[in-house]
Amino acid sequence: MPRVVVLVGMMGSGKTSVGKIVAARLGARFVDTDDLVVATAGQTVRAIFAEQGEPAFRLLEARALAEALSARDDVVVAAAGGTVLSDTNRQAIHQHADVVVWLDADVRTLAERASRDVHRPLIDGDTTSRLTTLNDERRSLYASVADMRIDTVGKSIDDVVQSVVAGVAPEHAS
Ligand code: S3P
Repeated sequence: MPRVVVLVGMMGSGKTSVGKIVAARLGARFVDTDDLVVATAGQTVRAIFAEQGEPAFRLLEARALAEALSARDDVVVAAAGGTVLSDTNRQAIHQHADVVVWLDADVRTLAERASRDVHRPLIDGDTTSRLTTLNDERRSLYASVADMRIDTVGKSIDDVVQSVVAGVAPEHAS
């Protein structure tokens, strides 16, 4: 199996929910870059955005991604939606990941899922319009780092897990 699997995609694409189960199936560790940021900063994502601003969050995020990618054990990394904005981050993913999977969905699906969580200040207000703008800006970046794209629309978490495992480690697929 690949040692470093990275999941990319928009907020609400399912990186964390899917990544945790994929990691368990592969016997790998799961790392979410948002969790690393929160642990390092000692503040929630929302508080970092509010008190330090987005540029400070992006710096913490870049460090978290570098740390996640430097793992020496088998790891599944959920790379938060904005990681691909930075050229340095995209290069780090390209250099260290064995397989990069883009979890894709339409804006309607993303909006339904993303609004369940509070760590996403960028989609406060008109969530659908914010997600549309961000998705338009980022699709080509996700495509540029990904080895495979999985359309998650209409699929359960388990369905997506099956597709990821079948794609990255067919020997673990059931
Ligand atoms: C962001 C995605 C969020 C979080 C922050 C910014 C983004 O993570 O890092 O709210 O810019 O797409 P998830 O992709 O895990 O929701």
